[in-house]
Amino acid sequence: MSKALDGVRILDFTHVQSGPTCTQLLAWFGADVIKVERAGAGDITREQLRDIPDVDSLYFTMLNHNKRSVTIDTKNPEGKLVLEALIQKCDVLVENFAPGALDRMGFTWERIQELNPRMIVASVKGFGPGPYEDCKVYENVAQCAGGAASTTGFDDGPPVVSGAQIGDSGTGLHLALGIVTALYQRTLTGRGQKVLAAMQDGVLNLCRVKLRDQQRLERTGTMKEYPQYPNGTFGEAVPRAGNASGGGQPGWILKCKGWETDPNAYIYFITQAPVWAKICNVIGKEEWATDPNYATPAARLPHLKDIFAEIERWTMTKTKFEAMQILNKYDIPCGPILSMKEIAEEPSLRKTGTIVEVDHPTRGKYLTVGNPIKLSDSPTEVTRSPLLGEHTDEVMTELGYSPEQISALRTAGAI
Ligand SMILES: CC(C)(COP(=O)(O)OP(=O)(O)OC[C@H]1O[C@@H](n2cnc3c(N)ncnc32)[C@H](O)[C@@H]1OP(=O)(O)O)[C@@H](O)C(=O)NCCC(=O)NCCS
Repeated sequence: MSKALDGVRILDFTHVQSGPTCTQLLAWFGADVIKVERAGAGDITREQLRDIPDVDSLYFTMLNHNKRSVTIDTKNPEGKLVLEALIQKCDVLVENFAPGALDRMGFTWERIQELNPRMIVASVKGFGPGPYEDCKVYENVAQCAGGAASTTGFDDGPPVVSGAQIGDSGTGLHLALGIVTALYQRTLTGRGQKVLAAMQDGVLNLCRVKLRDQQRLERTGTMKEYPQYPNGTFGEAVPRAGNASGGGQPGWILKCKGWETDPNAYIYFITQAPVWAKICNVIGKEEWATDPNYATPAARLPHLKDIFAEIERWTMTKTKFEAMQILNKYDIPCGPILSMKEIAEEPSLRKTGTIVEVDHPTRGKYLTVGNPIKLSDSPTEVTRSPLLGEHTDEVMTELGYSPEQISALRTAGAI
C-alpha cells in the first residue's frame, strides 16, 4: 500500500528531541528522511542516557525510526558541496540548531533558495523574534517560558514541569503540521517557504486555556472551578490548580485500594453534571442528588473538597481498575493513573501499534511508541533507527557520486 508522503524527500538536520520527533512522524507517513549527522560523533543523543555500553541509546533509537543516516562534515568545503547536492534533491530541510548555526555554516535562506527554490526550510527554535531569540533552549525552559510551569503543580508548592515533553515533542508536532501545510501550498505556488515553530509558542498553544483563565480572572477576580475557591485567595496571575480539571466539569485525583504501597493506585474522577445522581448512588450518598446544597453544579462548587473526600472514601475500597469498571457502567467519566510499566504491558496498545517492539542489530529488542496518528490509507510500519552513517554510501550513490569520489571524500574527512 502507498504512503501519504511517498516521494517526499527530507533533509533531516535535526538533533536531540524536538526536531527528530517531527522528522520521525514524516518518515512514518512515508517520507524518505535522510538524517545528516556530524561525522564520527552523530546526534549527541546516541550516547546520552545509555543503558548498554557502546550501543545507541534508547533516547536516540526511540526518536529516529524509519530514517537513513549519512555523516557529513558540513564545515569542510567538500562536505558543503555534498550538502548542496542534497539540498537540490530534497523537498524539505528540517533543522533545530541553535539560532544562527545554519547561517554560520553558510546555508542562509537566500543561499538555500538559490540552490532549490522549491525547498521548504523548517526550523524549531526556542523563541520567536524578540528578546530571547538568540537563546538556546531545552524542554523544561520551554515549559517554563510557555506558561506551563507556572500553571502546573499545587498552589502551596513551586512551579512544576510535566513529564509530557510538550516543549520538545509538542513543538515537533507543530512543526510537522507546518511542513505538510507548506508542502500543500507548494503544489499551488511552486515555491518553498520558511516554517518556524518556536518552543515557547508551541507550549503556549497547549496552555491556551490558561490564557483564557487569566482574562477571566482579571474580569471577575475569581474562578469558581479552581481549588482556591471559595476559601483561598487569587492573586494577579492564574494560579496552579493542582489536579482540578480545566473545563466546567470538576475533577480530582483520588486514592484507590493499595495507595499506601503503590504510588499509582489512584483514579481521576470527574463529577460530570449529567451523571451526578448516579455518582451519589454509587458512593452511597443518595440524599445529595436532591439536597439543594449539592443538587446543582453551581451549588456544588463551594463544597468540591468535601465532595471529593467523600468520593475518595468509596474509591479507596476499590482498586483503580475495579473502580473504572463500576463507574463506566454508569457513564461516569474517570481514568486510572497508569504507570509506564502498566502501559508497556497493555495488550491493546500493542495491538493498535501505539506500543511497538522493534529489533535493533546491536541493541536487540526494545519497546517504542509507534505512530499516534493512524491513517487508514497510509499504515505505519515502524523500522529501527539507523546506525551512524549506515546509509552514507547508499545516499551518495543516489546523488550520483562514483565509488572513487566517495572514497576520496571519505579520505578528505568530508563524509
Ligand atoms: C538544543 C540546543 C540547545 C543544543 O545546543 P548545542 O548542543 O550546543 O548544539 P548547536 O545547535 O549549538 O550546535 C550545532 C553546532 O554543531 C555544528 N554542526 C552540526 N552538524 C554538523 C555537521 N554535520 N558537521 C559539522 N558541524 C556540524 C553546527 O554548525 C553548530 O556549530 P556552530 O555553533 O559553530 O555554529 C540547540 O541546538 C538549540 O537551542 N536548538 C533549538 C531549540 C531546540 O530544538 N531545542 C530542543 C532540543 S530537544
